[in-house]
Amino acid sequence: MGLRLVFFLVCFCAGSLAALHAQQTSIQSVGGGDAWLLSAGEMSYAIGINDAKMPQTLYWGSRIGSVAGLPPARMHPEIASQEPPVATTPLEYTAWSSGGLPYEPALKAAFPDGNRSMTLRFDHAEQKGSAMLELTLRDQVEPVFVHLYYQLYPQGILARWSEIENRSKVVVTLENAASATWNLPPDPRYQLESLTGRWGGEFQLQRETIHPGASVLESRRGHTSHQTNPWFQVTAAGATTENAGPVWFGELGWSGSWRISVEEVESHAVRVTGGYNPFDFAYPLAPGALLATPHFYAGYTSAGEGEASRILHRFQQEAILPQAPHPRPRPVLYNSWEATGFDVNEAGQMSLIERAARLGVERFVIDDGWFGQRKNDHAGLGDWYVNPDKFPHGLKPVIERVHALGMDFGIWVEPEMVNPDSDLYRKHPDWAMHFPGQPRTEMRNQLMLNLARPDVRAYVFGFLDELVSKNDIAFLKWDYNRIWAEPGWEEVPLAEQKTIYVKYVENLYSILVELRRKHPKLEIESCSSGGGRVDLGILRDTDQVWPSDNTDALDRLTIQDGFSHAYTTGIMMAWTTDVPNFLDARSVPLLFRFHVAMSGSLGVGNSLNKWTDAEMQLATEQIAYYKSIRPLVQQGLLYRLTPALATPGHWATEYVAPDRSQAVVFAYLQATAYGEPFPIIRLEGLEPAATYVLTPQDRTKAPLLPQQATGAELMGSGIRLQLRGDYQSTVVTLKRQ
Ligand code: GLA
Repeated sequence: MGLRLVFFLVCFCAGSLAALHAQQTSIQSVGGGDAWLLSAGEMSYAIGINDAKMPQTLYWGSRIGSVAGLPPARMHPEIASQEPPVATTPLEYTAWSSGGLPYEPALKAAFPDGNRSMTLRFDHAEQKGSAMLELTLRDQVEPVFVHLYYQLYPQGILARWSEIENRSKVVVTLENAASATWNLPPDPRYQLESLTGRWGGEFQLQRETIHPGASVLESRRGHTSHQTNPWFQVTAAGATTENAGPVWFGELGWSGSWRISVEEVESHAVRVTGGYNPFDFAYPLAPGALLATPHFYAGYTSAGEGEASRILHRFQQEAILPQAPHPRPRPVLYNSWEATGFDVNEAGQMSLIERAARLGVERFVIDDGWFGQRKNDHAGLGDWYVNPDKFPHGLKPVIERVHALGMDFGIWVEPEMVNPDSDLYRKHPDWAMHFPGQPRTEMRNQLMLNLARPDVRAYVFGFLDELVSKNDIAFLKWDYNRIWAEPGWEEVPLAEQKTIYVKYVENLYSILVELRRKHPKLEIESCSSGGGRVDLGILRDTDQVWPSDNTDALDRLTIQDGFSHAYTTGIMMAWTTDVPNFLDARSVPLLFRFHVAMSGSLGVGNSLNKWTDAEMQLATEQIAYYKSIRPLVQQGLLYRLTPALATPGHWATEYVAPDRSQAVVFAYLQATAYGEPFPIIRLEGLEPAATYVLTPQDRTKAPLLPQQATGAELMGSGIRLQLRGDYQSTVVTLKRQ
């Protein structure tokens, strides 16, 4: 047995052990009930109550069996009268001012007597089974309690959130309410990775050195945002790669304004505090009232960035998505938005329906333009009746034809918005978010409805329920196309007006939940001018997302790669569209466009009526091929092979079945330069001793590919593909013998 094979076998056995562990969550209560060791998957997290009666992080890293070797929970000393103990000690949840906290507080409150200081101390703990721990803290003076929740998931994720409960007799106004603070052990090598972007350019991976001071990831826009996604990853420079090394990662489940602050504190220790964005935030808690903060999910792996992503993907598939733990594969859909724009009508859609069905499409979706007086983006939002000029017989004949051809039917809505030129706005101008007497800022000619209002919530739920009840609709593309501007809410007392940031999103979630409960087969896509609302909050109630309006296949490779760091490709919709692309004016071959879209959840958005027979034929073949690899792409283990190619303009991605019996590899080439061959692709995640049969989709692009090879060979010496030219791509499948 060669050394390499021994190495792979050792890794594989370690992998099997990991799989065994991954089934288990455990909570060990130690030290007479004042310390806990929480373990899930390959991760452990330890907390102890210290001498100041404050919960303190003792450990966050690889799975360990006991806390015996950890330092005891003890407040650290102050440093030079500049860093008080609350600053130097890795505390789990600290209220301001708590002995002079100079860093991001988890909680900040104002009392009617002028007091603005709280100090939270441990009150009691309650453990529920092997997956849930609740620590209750109490302010040292006022009867204000904070419940800290720790919920473990077997995939290796710890969810943390808090509930702030006012048991005093006065109103307490919360000015800052985080879900949790995560403390990382001191290390001078830390790097922060985040996903930033803009419309048409979402999910760009950023890497920066963590330095003294704060890096703030946030949205003040009222929704998740294109600019920063609520995901972070901390790695160690020189130690972490795609395949090895420590990664601490987390993401927030909230679709409103949010903030994650990453601060380097004394001696290279890092703390990450996240939750509601404290900007323009005030949440009065009446006596007896309680505020829950968003779930903040986090994990750790010592096996590199790829493994961190796979943990998140599995967690989303098995614990977050509405159909978890077994989400239904995403159907191949057709949508004419890029082909027809607002110009949708019965005749046009009917002819597209015929052609889409011939291709093997499974879901036909009518996008924007079917309702009210919607001829362009100047009018109609809010008036959710079928436009009688465009669809004189209603939606019924269209839906019937879609069904007759074996597809299901979906439709676009943008429920939270209103055009001033609409019947709804003329009737209810007060329903739009605004400040009294101030101009109302339009974006894309539209205003936001104040969904925090009970009457607006009732209207939005009512029209959606009616639309879905009266028509056989399997799918809603739920869009959201602007940011907040004047978040006023004059119908409630002044002190409560800023609760709009929380109540709006709570009502959004409650509509989704109620709609799904009433229509259990309904599936929903979260879209927000592309990828502006992708987060673990909305994903509890939506089945798929639209990552970007940018459908240029070359740009999409980067967007999709970034997306995969935080979210499973099983929800990542990707369409082929016409060239030249509307955004970049780039023309790439149809096969390349298909291959890029096929590495996510495939959709078609082309002008089918303009397609030649050859294009129809190519699309039909690729869609059939996609269906054969769909379970791997949507639910397999994703391995990003691009970093190891180390050659700009070359990409490779592999999806492996969880039982390692099958895999599929995509390879893409932007342009050959200087006659250089495509780099060797070393596969990953295979069973080393097993033999795999390799089948290229196109033999001419893989003339040197062996018909079969062992997993060890494929991972060790790799495969060679003959991709030459511009915008070349191919796919290879592997099957274990
Ligand atoms: C947004 C979406 C697009 C499309 C249009 C329709 O921009 O992201 O996919 O639905 O709205 O107006």
